[in-house]
Amino acid sequence: MATALPHPPRRIPLIGDVLGVSPKTPVQDSMRHAAELGPVFERKVFGREIVFVHGAEMVADLSDEKRFAKHITPAIANLRPLGGDGLFTAHNEEPNWRRAHEILAPAFSRNAMQAYHPTMLAITRELLDAWDRGGEVDVADDMTKLTLETIGRTGFGYSFSSFERAEPHPFVAAMVRTLRHAQRMVLQPPVIGPFLNRKANRRNEADLAFLHSVVDEVVEARRGDTSTGDLLGLMLNTTQPSTGEALDEVNIRNQIITFLVAGHETTSGALSFALYYLARNPDVLARAQSEVDKVWDGNPDPSYEEVAKLRYVRRVLDEALRLWPTAPAFARQAQVDTVVGGKYPMRKGQWALVLIPALHRDPVWGDDPEAFDPDRFAPDRNRARPAHVYKPFGTGERACIGRQFALHEATLVLGMLLSRYDLRGDSSYRLKVQELLTLKPEGFTLEVSLRDRAT
Ligand code: HEM
Repeated sequence: MATALPHPPRRIPLIGDVLGVSPKTPVQDSMRHAAELGPVFERKVFGREIVFVHGAEMVADLSDEKRFAKHITPAIANLRPLGGDGLFTAHNEEPNWRRAHEILAPAFSRNAMQAYHPTMLAITRELLDAWDRGGEVDVADDMTKLTLETIGRTGFGYSFSSFERAEPHPFVAAMVRTLRHAQRMVLQPPVIGPFLNRKANRRNEADLAFLHSVVDEVVEARRGDTSTGDLLGLMLNTTQPSTGEALDEVNIRNQIITFLVAGHETTSGALSFALYYLARNPDVLARAQSEVDKVWDGNPDPSYEEVAKLRYVRRVLDEALRLWPTAPAFARQAQVDTVVGGKYPMRKGQWALVLIPALHRDPVWGDDPEAFDPDRFAPDRNRARPAHVYKPFGTGERACIGRQFALHEATLVLGMLLSRYDLRGDSSYRLKVQELLTLKPEGFTLEVSLRDRAT
């Protein structure tokens, strides 16, 4: 943006705006700046300028697909060794993006979702078996087991045996280290950075090799199978409808790793935040629980349609994703010279980062945006709000392909947990948000016990 933008006050020559910020909490640091500096501001790190936008009017402009498109930021570029030209990390102009998007779209249709439902239910039952033992549970760890298992089995017919292990599958540990590495690389000084990080780079190489070996195992398990009922079947056995082209082997590997990572971390965080807010808000918990009791009437095998009927539970999830959108930013690049918010000129090629948690606290959300209030998503209040102020799944053509998958899975799981357990949070716990490209509540535990009416 050509106009001088507000920036944090203590800027140091060459280094930039790094005082008082931590490589572990870039999003929460930016949220603090957002509250102080207004709807658009700039941060500089080692000479690299990043423009942050969170004002509702400006984000509406950036959401205009005629003038803006997804931009691959340095942080996403650092994930290319992991995801290559997979859907999430692909540049708009790479032919494999559209090819894969067309080939994989059927995996997210309503019919596909209905077909995944029994598997999602079976995996939730495995979680219930573990929680039936009662006592204190580590929420984020268990949600990660559940969501990894769900994308593995529904998308690829592959089980990580998550609930048969005391510790998460090594895939998770390697993935977490790789994401942490990519996040750290954003803040490393140019030129000398790679030399300072030689040991970490070697470790990262080993993690990437391990992750790729898991993917090869997933593909190997399906050799000779010509079914097309899930993501892997579509990748291996179908072609792009408009060109007849198939995905190549390297791209298939990139897509598998993309879906295994993108398809579980974010949903796991969303479920964990929803459970945190349920435990913190007894009125909300009671209302959600009574909805499940009424709609499901004690049925331990809710159908696909019955999950969609949990309107209040869904609002709890929407509200948790408002306060903590677990993929907290996306970037938009100008396709033409243009003006944003009637004020800020942007040249073709310039880009800005939409800081979603700050957008979700914009004044359009009312006087008390920090309050957890699922009724914000009641139909009349949804209608009264301007468009483009709620973006937990990104925007436009490059928005989240897994949105319906995530929402169905998470609503089902919350419904099952609410139906079966009394959930009590530790009253001394203070929310600590962990950032690893995605967000989750760190160290949050629940005390679970079977409800009197549990089936
Ligand atoms: C893209 C959020 C669940 C797969 C995105 C983007 C966001 C997002 C914000 C856009 C990123 C950008 O513009 O740079 C979320 C949230 C989820 C979730 C908050 C859960 C609550 C899932 C699931 C899957 C998935 C379950 C797969 C089953 C993807 C993929 C993309 C994507 C492949 C890239 C799409 C493209 O560019 O074509 N997600 N996601 N996500 N998501 Fe999700």
